Amino acid sequence: MEKCDTLIVGARVIDGTGAPAVERDVAVRDGRIVAMEAPGGLSHWSADDVFDAHGKALAPGFIDVHTHDDTHVIRSPQMMPKITQGVTTVIVGNCGISASPVTLKGDPPDPMNLLGDAAAFRYPTFAAYVDAVNDARPAVNVGALIGHTALRNNHMDRLDRAATADEIAGMRAQLEEALDNGALGLSSGLAYGSAFNAPPEEVQALAEPLAKAGALYTTHMRTEFDAILDAMDEAYRVGRHARVPVVISHLKCAGPSNWGRSVEVLKSIETVREGQPVGCDCYPYNRSSSTLDLKQVTGDIDITITWSTPHPEMAGKLIRDIAAVWNVSQQEAAKRLQPAGAVYHNMSEDDVRRILSHPATMVGSDGLPNDPLPHPRLWGAFPRVLGHYARDTALISLEEAVRKMTGLSARRFGLEQRGEVKVGYHADLVVFDPERVRDAATFARPEQAADGIDAVWVNGVLTYREAALTGERAGRFVARGAASKLDAAGAF
Ligand code: ZN
Ligand code: CU
Repeated sequence: MEKCDTLIVGARVIDGTGAPAVERDVAVRDGRIVAMEAPGGLSHWSADDVFDAHGKALAPGFIDVHTHDDTHVIRSPQMMPKITQGVTTVIVGNCGISASPVTLKGDPPDPMNLLGDAAAFRYPTFAAYVDAVNDARPAVNVGALIGHTALRNNHMDRLDRAATADEIAGMRAQLEEALDNGALGLSSGLAYGSAFNAPPEEVQALAEPLAKAGALYTTHMRTEFDAILDAMDEAYRVGRHARVPVVISHLKCAGPSNWGRSVEVLKSIETVREGQPVGCDCYPYNRSSSTLDLKQVTGDIDITITWSTPHPEMAGKLIRDIAAVWNVSQQEAAKRLQPAGAVYHNMSEDDVRRILSHPATMVGSDGLPNDPLPHPRLWGAFPRVLGHYARDTALISLEEAVRKMTGLSARRFGLEQRGEVKVGYHADLVVFDPERVRDAATFARPEQAADGIDAVWVNGVLTYREAALTGERAGRFVARGAASKLDAAGAF
């Protein structure tokens, strides 16, 4: 008789590689998958817990590659918005903003305020952040990128200019400290005012230490509007200069004049991928969300306010309607609402579908956990891909959907022995009902747990079951593993 902690029997295993689902029994011991056999093959095993998963799918726990959960994993370690989706690992520090290493001079500059107010920034070194994550024992694992804007904040008196050589050296030293402590790479948010005046050379110089560490570069590009191809070129150039893989964050064709261009945008990635490792992530919605950006208040799309410091009562209302009530222009209304958060109705569904279904695309929620009226992607992104896009509209197979949220993601970000249901791998696992899984979060009622997520294990510990937390939290900081590798087929 062999002994293990948990036996999951009868599930259709979707292993994260894209391979067709097969029925398997799976044994878990000490946080790892220790055996996997065809039905009945583990009959000589006994377990403290036997989980009957007949009729259900068993997949690797989902990896949310694009989050702003930096401070949330510490403040709200239950991580309800994510664990209820079957997410077992989050990658924080995207879009140029990270909670560490950060030393503030006053209030956090836009958009670092998405991570919390000044009191939330208490990690002057990356090592301090790693300790805080492990002390908080979040329900999910945490991998971290270092934000270019966060580093600029630490070393520059003002952010509307280029960094000097000395400032870049200071930023690099902090990035290197973080890489030594397991950071996954560098992120940028070049579209935001706090980084827009950083020239390409600044980012290239900062990216130089990444290669030696086996780390990567992710970017919220300088623009996602009409000049998107130029912005993609800029991203590729950073990758070539620093000899590192590039991930384009939340790839989209923003703005009506840009709709339909996902064909050429994806073509660009395909062409470039023949010579260097490039990929992207996206969230499965045709509206974006961030802080309120006056440049995007052009009158050609609807914009919903999600929060406003001077006018909290305007949350949920369209700027157009607010402007009408106030009898001012939309620009003027937006100015009066600042600082504020917004949902932009700025994508076409065809583009979303084309980008999401492309083999180079991972799923990342880009959820904003500090927003009082968050974009529903925070609670719904992963079940929405499985339910709405894979099952209901047959955009991609279930196996391919799972690959985009597990195996592909782990390999790209260097998360070792995660992202697949495989003997020896960490037992980050989710059981879901392929017939019932669906996102429940809506723009009007965004804070709703998904349906059809039956059970979630993190590092072998049952954390969520029958729509309730078990009370156990077994997540931990995850350091960069072996360098994210590009295989010959360009599978990066
Ligand atoms: Zn972003
Ligand atoms: Cu983001």
